[in-house]
Amino acid sequence: MQNTKVAIVGLGTVGTGVARLLVEHGDRIARHAGRKLVLEHVAVNDLKKPRDIKLPSGMLSADIKRITSDPEISVVALLVGGLEPARSIMLALLDGGKDVVTANKALLAAHGPELFDRARELGRSIAFEASVAGGIPIIANISQCLSANEIQSIHAILNGTSNYILTQIEAHGTSYADAVRAAQGLGYAEADPTMDVDGSDAAQKLAILAHLAFGARVDWNDIPRQGIDTLDLADLRYAKELGYRIKLLAVAQLADGELELHVSPTLVKLGSPLAEVRGAYNAISVVGDAVGRVFFSGLGAGQMPTASAVVADIIDTVVGRSAITFRTLELWSKHIARVTARDYGRVAGRYYLRFSVADQPSVLAEIAGVLGKQNISIASVIQHEAEEGSQGVVPLMIMTHNTTEGAMGRAIEAIDRLAFMRGPSIRMRVRD
Ligand code: HSE
Repeated sequence: MQNTKVAIVGLGTVGTGVARLLVEHGDRIARHAGRKLVLEHVAVNDLKKPRDIKLPSGMLSADIKRITSDPEISVVALLVGGLEPARSIMLALLDGGKDVVTANKALLAAHGPELFDRARELGRSIAFEASVAGGIPIIANISQCLSANEIQSIHAILNGTSNYILTQIEAHGTSYADAVRAAQGLGYAEADPTMDVDGSDAAQKLAILAHLAFGARVDWNDIPRQGIDTLDLADLRYAKELGYRIKLLAVAQLADGELELHVSPTLVKLGSPLAEVRGAYNAISVVGDAVGRVFFSGLGAGQMPTASAVVADIIDTVVGRSAITFRTLELWSKHIARVTARDYGRVAGRYYLRFSVADQPSVLAEIAGVLGKQNISIASVIQHEAEEGSQGVVPLMIMTHNTTEGAMGRAIEAIDRLAFMRGPSIRMRVRD
């Protein structure tokens, strides 16, 4: 059986999982690749750092040149997070004649056009299944299996850490800080978990999906986003009372030829497939004009699910499938974008609102008046009686009918100025 040499740059959580699969499951991988994949070299930044895997002596070094200058290594898994030095390493690998596999979504979301152009110029390929939704094969599904369709919408849970934190708080009463620490300990969170909980990680993944599914050229930074870091835990309880569960939802949806894009904590109807996605699981609900709705779910973060996607990409690259897909799809090419993003103010939806108000006459009437002025219709109202120690401040929850983000923003601005308001208003999108 033929041998093919591969290498890894970065031996963190995912790199270790990839090395483990290559070293410990060589027979299974050889069967699927039709050749033996030999892990020739692993380059790391810090040789002294303790590792969770014992590699044959001499395999590990801090010298990337041992990979770039070895003509027998054809495929390299770049498993370094962040933008630099990941970008420079990717360019060096491509210049060195290597095909690259990566899980680094931040890198692709920020430098996709530059890196893909360079790979094309050099006749190389970049595979990135692991960059979105960990172990779920969503990149292959959208770019290949669903290619007969015009994709109409994507509603997705794309950050495993946030979903894990929400589940821990809701199901086990864990504190927010403890849940974040547990997500870090389990290898779900990014090195800096801020990117997970503030919606950035989900926005980066959504930018990649929007490019693949809709031909959109969006900077992830321009995607309106809100994370779970500003969520008031009381809203998890109130949402449940109304028959919903709060999920960090990433949405890309065609509306009259424009693309609605946003990431936000959203009330999702209890019992619907997205509401039942728990822990570090991700899910992606895709609607295509021919196929209808398809739903993908699986672990979106963590060592082995992500390593599963990386190794599948290594196999695809070694056997030549990645090169064909890469050439055919012309990803992040200079071609004009097929669709433009809709101004967020024009994005429609219905909303959950929570106001902290003084328990006094005509509060509801005044709020209803402001909403009415913006043509926002109320679907239901819940007000709890003032609790002991609440100093006459009560929560007032309103579910609205369909409106736009712009109208809602104007209404909230006006409501926040009313004299009986005792705290900032909360608004969240609702998905029925
Ligand atoms: N930190 C990411 C998440 C890992 O929690 O989803 C996968 O990109």
